[in-house]
Formats: sequence, structure tokens, C-alpha cells
Amino acid sequence: MSAFNTLDDLAPGQRVLVRIDLNSPVEDGEVQDNNRFDRYSETIRELADNDHKVVAMAHQGRPGRDTFVSLEQHADILSDHVGKPVQFVSDTFGDEATEAIEALEGGEILLLENTRMTDDELPEKSPEEHAESEFVQTLAPLFDAYVNDAYSVAHRAHASTVGFPLVLPSYAGRVMQAEYDYNTGVAERARNADGQVTMVVGGNKSKDVIGVVDNLGDVVDNFLIGGLPGQLFRRAQEYPIGYDVEGMDLLDDQYEETKETLADILETKGDQLELPVDFAYKGEDGERAEIALEDIESKDMEYFDIGHDTIDKYSPIIRESEAVFVKGAVGVFEDDRFGDGTVELLRAIGETDCLSVVGGGDTARSITKYGLDEDNYDHISIAGGAYLNALTGKELVAAQVLIDTAN
Ligand code: 3PG
Ligand code: MG
Repeated sequence: MSAFNTLDDLAPGQRVLVRIDLNSPVEDGEVQDNNRFDRYSETIRELADNDHKVVAMAHQGRPGRDTFVSLEQHADILSDHVGKPVQFVSDTFGDEATEAIEALEGGEILLLENTRMTDDELPEKSPEEHAESEFVQTLAPLFDAYVNDAYSVAHRAHASTVGFPLVLPSYAGRVMQAEYDYNTGVAERARNADGQVTMVVGGNKSKDVIGVVDNLGDVVDNFLIGGLPGQLFRRAQEYPIGYDVEGMDLLDDQYEETKETLADILETKGDQLELPVDFAYKGEDGERAEIALEDIESKDMEYFDIGHDTIDKYSPIIRESEAVFVKGAVGVFEDDRFGDGTVELLRAIGETDCLSVVGGGDTARSITKYGLDEDNYDHISIAGGAYLNALTGKELVAAQVLIDTAN
């Protein structure tokens, strides 16, 4: 049972402000379709079918990053998934936005501009402070209800995520409800299962992920490391890994930030870690090529996946586990040449009769892209940071405020 109000408690035909999370990969300015659109389309369709006036808020990227773009493209992609028009207004709470909101009819859908394009959104503040913001104070009177469905950004105390429950009757959306109910306490459930708990750790946000290894050491028996963390751990053991590509020194920066934690983890949890024994790179013909760790002599190569010896080393550990968590992809699976590690490990998990949770923003995308069967996993989370917070038992501030204000 959820501790918050849900859409089952919401009477039809109202003016509903709904926070969703459409934060997506952006390549050359083009927003990439992904599981988030698919999941949120169900919530949006349910609201529209119940004759609500549906106004959606979402964010994309952060100021200063090249993923920080307008939500105009998101409206079109969302519309394709919902199967109904999704109007867009390039304003969040100014006159243009309020006029568009007031013109809406029951069953119609409007997406507001990127919440992070307003000054009020991003400062981390208490729900009480955010409730006083111009953002919240301007929009709230135009609505009867606030729905927060954005589980994957529920670890952020932003105006659109925590400010409204104090001033409007508030409800958890379907995604929030499902993710919260499943992920909360799942680490304990796994630990209480009788057997080995394994976690596949990848992705490219090494700092977060390495923090997880640090924090989940008591819950997880085996960490199978890939992605950028795999390279960083090997570098911490003084293997010459880390190619500075075209002046970009991604690995150097992340290594500097994490090297003390890496060394500490290797010392205190070394026997729980499985590290890559080979890597995949672009060969001279542009095809996938692999090199054994022991054969790497200098930092002149960029690696995009774990190699097949590593896959063969990790798969049996998965097959012997009672519970497997995934955080992040072990390779750059978006490129077909470098999907083997991610796909083979996911396949092993899918074939094993274990509690299985796949999380980490984009990772769920690999399941769709490579035609794996979603039903083979107990839970596929579309969250990254929020999923990690849930695994490590940290409070999700935006979910908590829904619970605190529920009656
Ligand atoms: C995500 O994609 O992980 C969420 O939307 C949160 O985004 P953020 O890390 O930029 O706050
Ligand atoms: Mg994130």
C-alpha cells in the first residue's frame, strides 16, 4: 500500500498540474526517444482519458550543459506515444503559459517549457520555501490538483518537485507509485533472500556509482564492474588506462575526483570487486576489437565496452546469484559494436531465476534496443540517482513531501 494519495483518489474532470521526468539523451541537438516517454505516456493518457485538463511540467539537462534544451521536441515525441496532441508553450509560468493553461479544455494536454529555464526551479530549498516562490504561487491558483510522477528526480528539492504539495491537493502518479513501492526497501529484501547478492555497476557518472559501492558494501556480495568505473578501478591499480581524446580528459578529471575513494574501496572491499580483464575498442577498420588488460602498454586507446573474457568471468557469478541489481551499462551500447557486454550480462540476468532490478536512467533503453524481454526482470527502473538513493536507504525528498501532506 502506498503511503500517498494516488490517481485512484483523484476525481475526474479537474485542472491537473503533473510533474513528469522527460530528461533525455540529446545528440547533436536532437532529443532521443527513450523509455521515459513510453512510461509517462501512460500516466498522461490516463489523466486525459479522465477528462482532466492536463498541464505537464518537466526539465531537460542543466544550465551550461549541451543537453539543456527546450522541451519543444519532447512535446512531439510524447504526443506520438500518447496518441493524442500534446500542445507546447515556450514559457513556464509567465503570461504566455498562464494564457495557454486557461485556454485548455478537458481531455487536452499541454507541456510547459523546461522548468530549469526559470530561476526559481533549481535552488535546493525546503518545500516551505519553494511553496513561497513566484513559480509555485503563480501556477497553483490555476489548478485543482498536483500530481508528482517524477520519481527519477524525486531526490531533488526543486520548486516543481517539492513546492506544490503544500498548496494543492497532491497525488503520486503511476510511475512514482510503482517505482517508490518497488525500490523502497528492495536492498533489504535482497539481503534477506537466502543467497548471493550481485550488482552490475557501469555507466559514465563514476562519482555516484563509486559512492554506491562504498555504501552498499554490506548488502552486496559481488560488484561486477564495467563502464567508466571499471576503467577507473584498473587505473587505480596502475594499469595505463585513460586516453585523452581530442583534448578531452574525461577520465583524468573523473580519476582525480575519485582516486582516494577508489584506493579505499580496493583496500577495504577488494574481495567483493570483480574488475574487467579485457576491453573493447575501435580497431583500425572501425570494427570492434579487444585487448587483454595485461597487454595494455600505454594510454593510447579509448575503451567502449568490457571484452568477452570479462563477460565470461561475470556471467557465471550472475547465474549463481539470488538477487541482481544493475546500475548503468557496462559499455556504450548505443553503438551496436559496443553492446555485447551490456546485452550478455542482461541476458544472463534474464535467464536466471533471481530477484532482478535494472536501473539507471538510460540503461533500460538497452533492453528495448536489443529486443530483450522486459518480463524477464522483476523491475525496470527509469531512474538513475533516485534509484541509487533508494538502494542506499536515503530519503527521496519529493516522495516524502507527498507522504507528509497526504490525508
Ligand atoms: C535524471 O535524469 O537522472 C533525472 O532527471 C535527474 O536529473 P539531474 O541529475 O540533472 O538532477
Ligand atoms: Mg541524473
